[in-house]
Amino acid sequence: METLLNSPAAVRETSTRTCGRWRLCEFDELGSTNSFAAQLPAWTAIRADTQTEGRGRVAARRWISDTGGLWLSMVVPCPGARAKWAILPLAAGWAIVSALRDFGVSGARLRWPNDILIGRRKLAGILVERHRDDTAVIGVGMNVFNSPEECDDALAGMTARLADLVPGAYDLDAVTRRVLHAVHRVHIELLDRGFRRIADELNGSWQTARRVRVTLAGREHVIDGDFIGVDQQGRLRIHTARDGVAVFDATEVALLRERD
Ligand code: BTN
Repeated sequence: METLLNSPAAVRETSTRTCGRWRLCEFDELGSTNSFAAQLPAWTAIRADTQTEGRGRVAARRWISDTGGLWLSMVVPCPGARAKWAILPLAAGWAIVSALRDFGVSGARLRWPNDILIGRRKLAGILVERHRDDTAVIGVGMNVFNSPEECDDALAGMTARLADLVPGAYDLDAVTRRVLHAVHRVHIELLDRGFRRIADELNGSWQTARRVRVTLAGREHVIDGDFIGVDQQGRLRIHTARDGVAVFDATEVALLRERD
């Protein structure tokens, strides 16, 4: 199979193989799997053992990507109007929760838009990027056997790891395959039936209603209220005592913090 070794910033491509619908390419080390995947064709997946420049969703936040974690980016096709795929970050969150349930993790919950938490500790994060009109890159970072808290003191008490949640030895390959399968399945569902069922499933996964503080993009003031899920278009729904239910598009929201 054709190699990706000619691409810049790859340290060593260790394997390329087919995994269901996916062409999975694995590396010892990359800068960021999302950056590497940016221009690759749909149904390519890039996994690295470590990332030196892993990126989080909040701009300028580095994503600790030490050995033993899952650092995986998946390129999916996005046919049709760009706006139609605005729900992809939410759908990707649902795919990862489903993959975790398949593994026997029952306590995982989502924090809008797609952080995956165990209680208040973060198990996985998702960064969806659109570099092209016809594809999106879904980047998943999941703590499996790695030790992020040893890499960054600021993370003390804030992370969860799959290996601590599920008895038995799970290898990264098994986790990778489950995640690839789940993302493919959710993509099929979006194409065939749209977002409706996934929205319903998501709204059962937030463990609502939570008190949150929402900072709107480009605005000074914050909104305090109860997070009550997403609507059928994937918009955030917040209930405030003063205004009732307010609805926000994801692009309008700079930050959502849980308050308890
Ligand atoms: C978040 O802030 O919660 C999102 C974190 C996403 C991290 C993953 S790791 C694989 C992919 N490559 C990156 O540079 N980021 C994503």
